[in-house]
Amino acid sequence: MTRRFTGGRLVIASHNAGKVREIGQLLAPLGAQVVSAAELGLPEPEETGASFAENAALKARAAALASGLPALADDSGLVVPALDGQPGIHSARYAKEAGGFEAAMSKLWHSLPEAVDRSAHFICALALAWPDGACDIFEGRVDGQLTWPMRGCHGFGYDPIFIPLGYNQTFGEMAPEAKHALSHRADAFGKLMASAFGK
Ligand code: IMP
Repeated sequence: MTRRFTGGRLVIASHNAGKVREIGQLLAPLGAQVVSAAELGLPEPEETGASFAENAALKARAAALASGLPALADDSGLVVPALDGQPGIHSARYAKEAGGFEAAMSKLWHSLPEAVDRSAHFICALALAWPDGACDIFEGRVDGQLTWPMRGCHGFGYDPIFIPLGYNQTFGEMAPEAKHALSHRADAFGKLMASAFGK
């Protein structure tokens, strides 16, 4: 059974200031006083897991053990089944190695053999860990299709080539609120809220 968070300090196990701010805003109405791993001077563990869930769990566990506080971590990425699941858990690294997101999107699209399945999905795994080592995972997903050329300037990462199922616009063309209502992150947060915060 999922352990409930009943208020107090919660570490966001991320050194990404934007991510910490966004998660803090989401959790503030639930009685969580958010503090980041960077503010506490916690080291960033290497992401050696074989799945989104494993990477989220190892980041959350390391922060909870080092701080003595409950800790929340996320791990996310884009999965393309026709490319054997690439870039997957290596989505950030794939972009870095390609020389940025525009180059990464071009490389990804042009790696797809012609007339194959262009379906893709984003995954977000959230891990809530406790100082005694307990950890619950909440996984969110949004399915869609890849498209080319890139469209739209909202969002980040691979958003300009991803069209969620049932829509005509890419995530990059959608207003941020529209993307946030149906994204993999929204799905994972909904599950976290329902189970761990009782909302
Ligand atoms: P993380 O910070 O290690 O979870 O890196 C996730 C990576 O996955 C990001 O750098 C992006 O490349 C990609 N990604 C995750 N979520 C999204 C999204 O909502 N839109 C576009 N790209 C995303």
